[in-house]
Amino acid sequence: MKTGIKHTSFDVEKIREDFPILNRKVNGYPLVYLDNAATSQKPRVVIDAIVDYYSNYNANIHRGVHSLSQEATDAYEKARVKIQKHFNIKNAHEVIFTSGTTHSINLVASGFKEFLKPGDELLVSAMEHHSNIVPWQMLCEQTGAILKVIPMNLNGELEMLEFVGLLSNKTKLVFVNHISNALGTINPIEEIIEKAHKVGAVVLIDGAQACAHLKPDLQALNVDFYVTSAHKMCGPTGVGMLFGKEEWLTKLPPYQGGGEMIKEVTFEKTSYAGLPHKFEAGTPNISGGIAFGVAIDYLNAIGFEKIAIYENQLLEYATKKMLEIEDLKIYGTAKNKTSVISFNIGEIHPYDIGTIVDKLGIALRTGHHCAQPIMDFYKIPGTVRASFAFYNTFHEIDTLINALQKAKRMLT
Ligand code: ALA
Repeated sequence: MKTGIKHTSFDVEKIREDFPILNRKVNGYPLVYLDNAATSQKPRVVIDAIVDYYSNYNANIHRGVHSLSQEATDAYEKARVKIQKHFNIKNAHEVIFTSGTTHSINLVASGFKEFLKPGDELLVSAMEHHSNIVPWQMLCEQTGAILKVIPMNLNGELEMLEFVGLLSNKTKLVFVNHISNALGTINPIEEIIEKAHKVGAVVLIDGAQACAHLKPDLQALNVDFYVTSAHKMCGPTGVGMLFGKEEWLTKLPPYQGGGEMIKEVTFEKTSYAGLPHKFEAGTPNISGGIAFGVAIDYLNAIGFEKIAIYENQLLEYATKKMLEIEDLKIYGTAKNKTSVISFNIGEIHPYDIGTIVDKLGIALRTGHHCAQPIMDFYKIPGTVRASFAFYNTFHEIDTLINALQKAKRMLT
């Protein structure tokens, strides 16, 4: 490779052996999976944890006195503690298992209905996923609160001076993603949280795209709510985390009624269970929760510092190579960004590029990436997005570049 970029000794070939899916072919070509921002692939240990649960100790949790139920409960609660420790959360009961980031955000937004009045202001960033816009819009419709937008610049960075200008004693909530799924921007959440707190606003950070790339310290951040999904970080789909400060989780009403979230039920009145069960009605995704804990162990065994260094090298290499393709434009050039590249080539429709490279075994995402306001900002219908994980290789990037050149030749 003649890029001048020095590579680390990160043993990617060994790591790839942990991921069974990376051995498969797609359309006759070795799979090149570059859609990690949509969902990550799963290492064998995570798959095994799910198989082990269903093969050996499948039972409902928190309910039975029998041994299987105890084993399942222990494993599930151990996973909660792993999540607590990983994110440096003060109390295990501040970790609520949800079905994922979208569920977590809806839970918080729904709970704030009784804390808002007409004219209160909510701040959202210009680069949010729809799941961090729509639940708040619904909340504004229900309460008369007003949604205001923190603008961004053409590099895909938030305009922090304008953010400060928007803050006032009317600001009740601020919700921003840690990393943009469409642009890869890493937002300055420390500063956002600190400034929002100065006016008494509550902050929710959407960490769905962040937690595969970095390890947030939630006590150091002093954030009120932080939400994420297991499936973006080598865990299974259908499970995620809501972290909320005890103070807020105690104040918020339950999101769903049902089994497990109650203390006592009569037909006259029901009293609710304490944290975290108040927000965990019904039988949860037990194997998913357990496997989420295993995924966290797996990532920590590799090490987030090593992951970040290696992914930055992939990003740097891919950016350089892609910009050598004539007419290729990258959207999202923030100084502080992670391994996501959104781009278009001339006037070629993103879908056409995605379809052609798929025929060569390469998985990219195309479209608006559930972030239509970003596409409107750039006045484009969508982009092609390549998103890299620590198990991707420089060779795969070369394969991508060749495929993009081929697609360009075919489509122009
Ligand atoms: N939010 C996921 C993505 O960015 C689905 O692709």
